[in-house]
Amino acid sequence: MSTSSGTWHPASWRDRVAAQQPSWPDELALKYVEQRLSQLPPLVFAGEARSLTQSLGKVAAGKAFLLQAGDCAESFAESDADHLRDKLKVILQMAVALTYASGVPVIKLGRIAGQFAKPRSSDTETIDGVSLPSFRGHMVNDETFNAEARTPDPERLVQSYHHAASTLNLLRAFTMGGFADLRQVHAWNLEFVASSSAGQRYEQVAAEIDRALSFMAACGIDLDAEPSFHQVNFYTSHEALILPYEEALTRQDSLTGDFYDCSAHQLWIGDRTRQVDGAHVEFLSGVKNPLGIKVGPSADIDEVLTILGKLDPSLTPGRISIITRYGAEKIRAMLPDLIDAIDASGHPVVWVCDPCHGNTITSSSGHKTRRFSDVMAEIAGFFEVHRAKGTWPGGVHIELTGDDVTECLGGVEEILESDLHQRYTTTCDPRLNARQSLDLAFEISQLLRANA
Ligand code: PEP
Ligand code: CO
Repeated sequence: MSTSSGTWHPASWRDRVAAQQPSWPDELALKYVEQRLSQLPPLVFAGEARSLTQSLGKVAAGKAFLLQAGDCAESFAESDADHLRDKLKVILQMAVALTYASGVPVIKLGRIAGQFAKPRSSDTETIDGVSLPSFRGHMVNDETFNAEARTPDPERLVQSYHHAASTLNLLRAFTMGGFADLRQVHAWNLEFVASSSAGQRYEQVAAEIDRALSFMAACGIDLDAEPSFHQVNFYTSHEALILPYEEALTRQDSLTGDFYDCSAHQLWIGDRTRQVDGAHVEFLSGVKNPLGIKVGPSADIDEVLTILGKLDPSLTPGRISIITRYGAEKIRAMLPDLIDAIDASGHPVVWVCDPCHGNTITSSSGHKTRRFSDVMAEIAGFFEVHRAKGTWPGGVHIELTGDDVTECLGGVEEILESDLHQRYTTTCDPRLNARQSLDLAFEISQLLRANA
């Protein structure tokens, strides 16, 4: 395969500078891990990645909406069935709220089954005069602040693979085996959500869906025979950060001869690793999966266009999602020029709003947090700018959890600064809890309806 670098192959990124890589203490141990990973079965299949590209192509054409959501950093300690089920419930609930209000199909894409690695603003963290390597996600090290826990351990790459495999296995069982059946729509309302105003609003929608399903059954439609009533296509994604892991899971598809990174259906490139001549852009240029590019306030528009040229030379609808994360204050000023430039370039991108990463603040209690109102304000700005430009606000990219955490401020059942310490369990960025997430979905569905 030919790229701007000459000939692409899964290891061609190694000739480039790779930002945000840990300093592995033992190169030989890393090599051994890479070799083992490369012999393990793929986690996803090329055909699935192709069907996601097709679905995203519909989003690019304004005919569907993307809901991409999950943890900032998945935790090995939270890959159990209960955490996964609750996260899936929230995402399914949000998708129902969005679909019901807008009448537009919702593509469901988790930040899940591989979102184990984090870019950090500093290589080290200092507490009480002691400096240690920063926590980079469970794919690399542990958040506990001691030298042993913080030393990057390549065995964690293999552990990540196995956690991703068991997560995917359960997700496939849940989404194909009856749990995601529309007739179960009431069962997705988590107990602590059901009592909230968003939960009650959801119950009304669920009751209307029940009535519609009974009506269809009474008319003689065999609901069991129609897969879309009882199965859900649920896709996975993560930031393609730790390149030895991504390379080891890259396989050549026997049907097409193309290379796919089989660690997830979609991979994205972070705001800190999108250097035009860097290793991450080089690596992703050669795999056929659908890709995301995070674009924050520091991005230069010409550079974004150059990256697009490298990652999407054939202008394939659905290949690229541009995930803007400007922050509520900047989006109205910065997004219009980006839309103009990309529109003029002819790349048929999916426009996605990440209303989380540009709105992170530190509370007076010292917690990293986000205000629900800022998150919502950025989404409102995103819809407003796209409406003015005549482009389709294709989706949202949200950090959330199914747990009853107190990590983000506000929401209808308001979380105050003084509440943050109560259930603050994230290993990285603050996540919306299930109530706030459902609330958000209802607010977005209003915007979608107004946009239709
Ligand atoms: C993230 O999505 O968790 C992240 C680190 O985002 P960004 O690259 O946009 O800062
Ligand atoms: Co984050």
